[in-house]
Amino acid sequence: PASPLASGDFEGVRVLVTAGGTREPIDPVRYLGNRSSGRQGVAVAAAAADRGAKVVLLAANIDESVLAELRDRPSVRVVPVGTAAELESAARAAAGGAEVVIMAAAVADYRVAEVAEHKIRKEDAPGQAPTLRLVENPDILVGLVRERRPGQVIVGFAAETVGAGRGHSEPDAEDAAFPGPGEEDPAEELLERGRRKLARKGVDLLAVNAVGWNAGFESAENALLVLDADGRVACEATGTKRAVAERLLDAVRDELRALRH
Ligand code: CTP
Ligand code: CA
Repeated sequence: PASPLASGDFEGVRVLVTAGGTREPIDPVRYLGNRSSGRQGVAVAAAAADRGAKVVLLAANIDESVLAELRDRPSVRVVPVGTAAELESAARAAAGGAEVVIMAAAVADYRVAEVAEHKIRKEDAPGQAPTLRLVENPDILVGLVRERRPGQVIVGFAAETVGAGRGHSEPDAEDAAFPGPGEEDPAEELLERGRRKLARKGVDLLAVNAVGWNAGFESAENALLVLDADGRVACEATGTKRAVAERLLDAVRDELRALRH
């Protein structure tokens, strides 16, 4: 249901949002995936719709319970996708008809080179763990930036782990609040990583958030740092994923206005 506070500043704006995480098949029953729930992207889609946008949401493996937030919003069209390749062709097909593209999906960087036609069975190679050969997936976002239409605002997301040298064997250390001796301040590191990624992607805005073993994915809350094309902090948003989505859309609206004037 549209919020009575909706400001309507996206009235008539067509917004493409990608969300969730792609899954790359290994065999008919297994895949390589990631922990993205799709909640932040779904919150962006809902908020944009409530502000008047016509939204296409490319939903990569998002749970029905998460998509339920979009029920009763006829201005959001949900298109399910599975793999990075499916997301890429759907995104390329939809991007031409959008003034705003928000790429919140966690895209698998690699896919399995040879997908097994039948289930891989231990019986076929007893005691021998298989080795998966991976190949890099295309960077969908970079492709969209390359083919962007005039005036289109393109937003990337970056989930980064910060804090140097902590092994994956120590999941609890990941969320340590203070840098140790010789370590970089995590907030500085997040900003630096974000700026490097921004430069590589060529997007108008990059929404950066810190993730770790215990932060960012399943939670309802989020904290985002939004960088503009010059690497300046356009806004910082903390709160529910919906509240964070509203602040991100404020920054998108400002970009849209700047491009129109
Ligand atoms: N992205 C994409 N296609 C890919 C990988 C990433 O479109 N093959 C997009 C994501 O949707 C996100 C942005 O690029 O909006 C940044 O994703 P991220 O994984 O942080 O960047 P990578 O370039 O893959 O760098 P990293 O090595 O840190 O994963
Ligand atoms: Ca990646």
